[in-house]
Amino acid sequence: MKRKNNLIFGGWDVVDLASRFGTPLYVLSEDAIRDRCREVQSCFLKKYENTHAVYASKAFLTLAMCRILETEGIGLDVVSGGEIYTAAKAGFSMEKLIFHGNNKSPDELRLALEKGVGRIVVDSENEYDILEGIAEEVESEADILFRVAPGVDAHTHKYIATGHTASKFGMPVLGDGITRIVERAMTSRFLHLKGFHFHVGSQLKDNMSHLMAVNVLLDLISNVRDRSGFLTEELNVGGGFGVPELPGEDPVKLSDFIDPVMERIISGCEDRGLRIPQTIIEPGRWIVSEAGITLYSIGLLKEIPGVITYVSVDGGMTDNPRPALYGALYHGVVANRMDEKASMKVSVVGKCCESGDVLIRDLEIPSIKPGDILAVFNTGAYNFSMASNYNRNPRPGLILVSEGKADIIVERQTYEDLLRGETIPEHLK
Ligand SMILES: Cc1ncc(COP(=O)(O)O)c(C=O)c1O
Repeated sequence: MKRKNNLIFGGWDVVDLASRFGTPLYVLSEDAIRDRCREVQSCFLKKYENTHAVYASKAFLTLAMCRILETEGIGLDVVSGGEIYTAAKAGFSMEKLIFHGNNKSPDELRLALEKGVGRIVVDSENEYDILEGIAEEVESEADILFRVAPGVDAHTHKYIATGHTASKFGMPVLGDGITRIVERAMTSRFLHLKGFHFHVGSQLKDNMSHLMAVNVLLDLISNVRDRSGFLTEELNVGGGFGVPELPGEDPVKLSDFIDPVMERIISGCEDRGLRIPQTIIEPGRWIVSEAGITLYSIGLLKEIPGVITYVSVDGGMTDNPRPALYGALYHGVVANRMDEKASMKVSVVGKCCESGDVLIRDLEIPSIKPGDILAVFNTGAYNFSMASNYNRNPRPGLILVSEGKADIIVERQTYEDLLRGETIPEHLK
């Protein structure tokens, strides 16, 4: 294939990458991730005093990703024993971890205490009881935050909105539940309450919900000070900063999102006579989404005249479940025909046995042949981390690219990997 027609990503001809590493293939640009981490440094950590940033590892986590983040001075938000384990194996500083989750198991809480995770974000009073019991039993102290559902409805898909009162995450601000648990924590020997956390939702294109949530939280912080004398040291405002989905949409600038939030916190504290707490952010998608693409080989073309044309690729909802799960939008190009004009409108479908396995609808592409390479953009977040083995499809390999380097950081699964851990009981042999 002629090089001049090919898509270049992260300094590499992606058609060469596809033939060298096979498809489907996740490709991640190390420079793009580092650029976003540096924007967090310049537009937040260095710009505002007493701030901290953690990356929400649910978006994408591997050992290599931990190393990149640690060298960029960004901490980690984790939500499971597996994520804690991965960070520990990568040699990540445990005090830079913030442990979230609405149903952490006793074993996961024990692991967090044993590893000395920096903050445990307690999601409910029940979880508080369990954590306090374990901390007493193992005689281990922990710094904690309380997760609050601020009663704010974020403008995003309902599956990724998390700040409303009926959310499964956090404690509602209504009633006196939070004051009660704050008072309990103030006398705990093992759990040290530092403050509060909220996360209103994901893929947010504006900061309206964050601003409303800050108002709610500052009222709460001033109420607990007046009623119980509790002085809040930390306010974690979560993540959720969006990324563009389709061509022509502008990237979300971190400062456009976060400056008004910081102004609101600073002026809101002044108005209420509060000390400004340490402010923590937790971006996931915004750091890694645009740093990733997925390469597929195009297979069969099916034209239903006057109705629809399907282009099938060798992956699908197994490596990117988001379109099937909540209608997420993606854009792609035929990577080896970059200078050819679009001549047809197609739906790109995967190979799974579900009619909903549609990666992109109405994509305009040039005339194609089986074996051409389709590159889908913006797949760095919530693709690899949400992938499955549905239909016993092995998961794609994952390579990290930068100038002159293309390293496999996750091996492509083999059929043998699919059988790992399976046994046939004696009576079935
Ligand atoms: C507690 C918490 N923090 C941060 C995030 C990161 O969200 P995003 O990837 O949209 O930035 C999430 C996402 O679900 C979350 O639950």
